Amino acid sequence: MKRIGMLTSGGDCQALNATMRGVVKGLCNMYKDVEIYGFLEGYKGLIRNNYKQLSASDFSGILTKGGTILGSSRQPFKLMDQPTEDGINKVKAMKETYKKLKLDCLVVLGGNGSQKTANLLSEEGLNVIGLPKTIDNDLWGTDMTFGFQSAVDIATTAIDCIHTTAASHNRVFIVEIMGHKVGHITLHAGIAGGADVILLPEIPYDIKCVCKAIEKRSKAGKGFSIIAVAEGAISKEDAALPKKKRKEKLANRPYPSVAYEIAEQIKETCGCEVRIAVPGHTQRGGSPDAFDRVLSSRFGAYAAQLIKDEKYGRLVVLKDNEVTDIALSDSAGKLKYVSPEDSIVQNARMLGISFGDK
Ligand code: F6P
Repeated sequence: MKRIGMLTSGGDCQALNATMRGVVKGLCNMYKDVEIYGFLEGYKGLIRNNYKQLSASDFSGILTKGGTILGSSRQPFKLMDQPTEDGINKVKAMKETYKKLKLDCLVVLGGNGSQKTANLLSEEGLNVIGLPKTIDNDLWGTDMTFGFQSAVDIATTAIDCIHTTAASHNRVFIVEIMGHKVGHITLHAGIAGGADVILLPEIPYDIKCVCKAIEKRSKAGKGFSIIAVAEGAISKEDAALPKKKRKEKLANRPYPSVAYEIAEQIKETCGCEVRIAVPGHTQRGGSPDAFDRVLSSRFGAYAAQLIKDEKYGRLVVLKDNEVTDIALSDSAGKLKYVSPEDSIVQNARMLGISFGDK
């Protein structure tokens, strides 16, 4: 008999349900009796003792279903030590809910911030297992998070659709892709969609270099260009500012986002027609792709085995195509960035893709 709590925390993604299904299927194959408590809207449900008792049948038929049957919310780690607006001590309340339900383990499906809280609860003595969620693929310690490949597929389709219209009208198109701090989705979708310029938060751009890349294409007789830009792409000039000044400047930027600013600069310098496409939250929506269904099912099954082995305080990860686990404390607080030295960046440069930096 096992009593398991489960929650999905932070921005949603495509394979949350598939991952929970994997955990439950794995457990139900090992134990006759499994009690599952699903906390609603992430840590909020754990804090407020708001849960649904679920049975194995609730996890049937959800492999392909996007979103999360438990709901999600953002509960920033940095605010965990501050009481709720109605005065509840969050960490204390979460521990009480766990103890009241006599849970054997809490399974947390979440990204970077959510796993920091998972680690905190583990340090507070709860049995916790983390599962690496996020379209951004920025969780340290895993080669891949679930949700990433599905998001890359959607962003790639967005670039593909833009390609045909950009070519018909000889326009420059900017496709703005999710990723405030890291550019993994933009990098992968940019390569997959044949973008000519890829702009990432990790490789600050110089608008002159971006324009140079467009003009080089037009001199070569190519009337259109596609720029894949991450939400958090930053100019060299802004990157050089002290953090506080930079934040202030970007918050007061007279454009809705970086894509609009770059569009204006390109229009001015190159005199060409520029259009913008922002797939936005579609990148987190819909069904998980086949890759994510396999990955999340493997992650879920592995988590069930960890529970059986009573190996807690662990984050399930993918390393060299094998599912394994690391200490939650090893990953907590670290982001996995794109490095300009990564071979994938070098490969892209060899294909003639500009990163707007030289
Ligand atoms: O972390 C996932 C993510 O989709 C990021 O890529 C994006 O920057 C952010 O969440 C958007 O957050 P929200 O859904 O709160 O607007």
